[in-house]
Amino acid sequence: MNFFLETVRAMLLSLWFNLESLVFLVVPRKRKNISGEVVLITGAGSGIGRLMAQQFAALDTVLVLWDINQEGLKESARLAGAAGAKRVHHFLCDCSDRNEVYRVADQVKREVGDVSILVNNAGIVTGKKFIDAPDSLIEKTMEVNIMAHFWTYKAFLPAMIANNHGHLVSIASSAGLIGVNGLADYCASKFAAVGFAESVGLELVATGKNGVKTTIVCPYFINTGMFDGCQTKCPSILPILNAEYVAKKILHAVLTDQVYLMLPKSIYLIAALKNILPMKQGILLGQYLGAFNVMDDFRGRSKKQE
Ligand SMILES: NC(=O)c1ccc[n+]([C@@H]2O[C@H](COP(=O)([O-])OP(=O)(O)OC[C@H]3O[C@@H](n4cnc5c(N)ncnc54)[C@H](O)[C@@H]3O)[C@@H](O)[C@H]2O)c1
Repeated sequence: MNFFLETVRAMLLSLWFNLESLVFLVVPRKRKNISGEVVLITGAGSGIGRLMAQQFAALDTVLVLWDINQEGLKESARLAGAAGAKRVHHFLCDCSDRNEVYRVADQVKREVGDVSILVNNAGIVTGKKFIDAPDSLIEKTMEVNIMAHFWTYKAFLPAMIANNHGHLVSIASSAGLIGVNGLADYCASKFAAVGFAESVGLELVATGKNGVKTTIVCPYFINTGMFDGCQTKCPSILPILNAEYVAKKILHAVLTDQVYLMLPKSIYLIAALKNILPMKQGILLGQYLGAFNVMDDFRGRSKKQE
């Protein structure tokens, strides 16, 4: 195709895709049927991992739940069973350990079968200023929040590609789009999670096959306990999110093949503004919205809550 025709084609398709998006603002998108799909959720022993397990269970799926917390895992499996899962399998798996991920993944393939929806959800936070954070915790944050995504994709993506069917769900964070004072290692891991999921998604698009979908989730603070103590200065623009609401939105995004889910909606605007406003204005608005102090009263999850 010559350059002129290519340009006309790109312009017409751009117009079409924009119109299509506008239509879907008012017309609900069709939800796909995931009955019988094998859904693996890492970090399913508490928080939104547990809630997502219950929501997927209600859609007649086979669930594979991973966590390092045995008690939490058992309770999540019980709740998912009660919510209607076809079957629930749970495995202790430390996602920060590559060999353990590969070993448990092989066990899953033997005992359950190919995973068709992979939800990388396990996450941890140091909650210290970078200069005060122990090296071991920084390494652990990277191992759980991003390296584990590499190993789970390596383990489960080949079968999805071979079947041209599957869905990769990355639970990242708004801290993977915008840097946060007091969350340097966490932000680094979440920026990496966004970049990794986005790039593998593009690798899949480039193959021309379109059966393996990607959803990248970037929420602000959620009331699961992970960020207990953190404050929001402007709850009308940046509210602390309800965990049930977040799990419901994630499920809807998966069922409608939505690629990016940012919560609350203001994150779409804030992330876009960050890249176009003068730096000084960005910092001013960040201070105005209280973004510089969100971690001041961080306590995080206490041992008792775990
Ligand atoms: N809570 C928030 O404010 C918030 C905001 C944005 C994004 N997120 C992300 O959402 C995800 C879920 O967070 P949550 O709020 O439900 O927290 P949570 O602490 O309730 O859940 C995290 C789960 O991961 C598990 N886990 C930790 N290390 C693990 C390991 N090495 N191997 C396997 N499992 C491990 C924990 O045992 C726990 O069950 C995380 O990735 C988090 O970064 C949370």
